[in-house]
Amino acid sequence: MQRKGRFITLEGVEGAGKSTALETVREVIESEGIPLRLTREPGGTPLGERVRELLLSHEFTGMADDTEALLVFAARAQHLAELIQPALKQGTWVLSDRFTDATYAYQGAGRGMPAERIATLEQWVQGPFRPDLTLVLDLPVEEGLRRAAGRSIPDRFEREPRAFFEAVRRCYLNRAADAPGRYRVIDAFRPLDDVQQAIRDTLTDWLRGGGR
Ligand code: TMP
Repeated sequence: MQRKGRFITLEGVEGAGKSTALETVREVIESEGIPLRLTREPGGTPLGERVRELLLSHEFTGMADDTEALLVFAARAQHLAELIQPALKQGTWVLSDRFTDATYAYQGAGRGMPAERIATLEQWVQGPFRPDLTLVLDLPVEEGLRRAAGRSIPDRFEREPRAFFEAVRRCYLNRAADAPGRYRVIDAFRPLDDVQQAIRDTLTDWLRGGGR
């Protein structure tokens, strides 16, 4: 696909501070005068948001791992066709709260699905399409779960045991280490102001370094 815009994704374990980070990324990009669409996964389109409800609902505690992975990619296919690719084509940048790295982390490392199976679906749905930049907000799982506790009623994923999130965190860090060109790991185990500053600095460096 011919793309004029850039595609940036934000990832992290529960309680890593993604919502604040999204706003910080948005401020930096928009201050450069770049048009930006903010979106999320699972979701981002009316169909995708319905799939999100299925994925997060406690109604389906018995959801098979394959079903879960296929639903995530079904929502993603719609997201790409309806929102992401049209926006990028016309030069609007897209910032997504999670994308396929989350599938490797949650369905792969968390649920134990082999990465090759996820890669097959990734290839089917995305072809060679990948984010231009992925920011990984990293912090100890215990701290993330502490911050997330009491925020809202835990969804189907948030009920998982700590070992699940340890695997998720390790997966994000391993993927970032394997492809340092695309990933930037942000230490989120710091006061909020410091995290926001780190995000601003990282993004500004990336933009100056040819990201734009
Ligand atoms: P959120 O916490 O960022 O709103 O995301 C909702 C949940 O969906 C979160 O627990 C991670 C999970 N998820 C997956 O399991 N696989 C995926 O591919 C994506 C995008 C999210």
